[in-house]
Amino acid sequence: MTQILDGKALSLRIKDEIANEVRAFAATGHRPPHLAAILVGNDGASQTYVANKEKSSAEVGFLSSVYRLDENIDEAELLKIIDFLNRDDEVDGFIVQLPLPKHIDEQKVINAISSDKDVDGFTPVNIGRMVLGQDAFVPATPMGICTLLQRYNIPTEGMHCVVVGRSNIVGTPAANLMSRKAFNCTVTMCHSRTRNLPEITRQADILIVAIGKPEFVGADMVKPDAVVIDVGIHRIPDASKKSGFHLCGDVKHSEVDSKCSWVTPVPGGVGPLTIVSLLQNTLLAYKKKYSL
Ligand code: GUN
Repeated sequence: MTQILDGKALSLRIKDEIANEVRAFAATGHRPPHLAAILVGNDGASQTYVANKEKSSAEVGFLSSVYRLDENIDEAELLKIIDFLNRDDEVDGFIVQLPLPKHIDEQKVINAISSDKDVDGFTPVNIGRMVLGQDAFVPATPMGICTLLQRYNIPTEGMHCVVVGRSNIVGTPAANLMSRKAFNCTVTMCHSRTRNLPEITRQADILIVAIGKPEFVGADMVKPDAVVIDVGIHRIPDASKKSGFHLCGDVKHSEVDSKCSWVTPVPGGVGPLTIVSLLQNTLLAYKKKYSL
């Protein structure tokens, strides 16, 4: 029988745990952890993500601030703000919401973030540390996937994990983490140039889909009783909805779910855990800074 990896419910539980820690720090005279975000331009999805990060920060008792910058801001101006946040003792961690406008060099901007405040885990230092198995801030989405698998006690040892998508934010770090000792999976990484993709995904005991294409994975691509993790989230125009759209993932849940042992819904699967991971990384940055 298919069971749901309920990211929404798990995220509420973990947020409660974080809020308790923050309250305990406050009781001993410490200020709350502070997460800042830089949002450039008016991309609708990015605005929603950043608003959710603000809301979640408030829910666990964090301070949060958002730097909303004009679409046309100079790269040099943006780098100055990053330099300011790197030095600001009152900010424990910050993120630069991606994607950035085309005239800005994204990698240059990421490289400018202090690795001690890089709670997205996007800087070369943190990615290098993660790959080496050293203490690191791990990117939020793959960290959320790991948390889901661990908290639901999903067996992973010796399993074949197939990752579809090789982005720096999700696929590449997810493949690395699943191969590590904590999970001990045999990992296959697939991408847009992979031949015979369905043949490979059908071998997956654990299938992580982060390809960014609506309902890309159908029932013909999934082995019976697989664990399926759907990282995609897409707004599909839908006149029957008050909002004018409905959400779907990279997996065609209407035909895949009944084949799975465990599956993440969209929405309410990986998404809430991504934000929780960012909060956990911020708490970690704060604790490191004050040796708590
Ligand atoms: N854009 C999409 N996902 C993310 C994320 O996890 N962090 C940042 N900074 N930008 C994103």
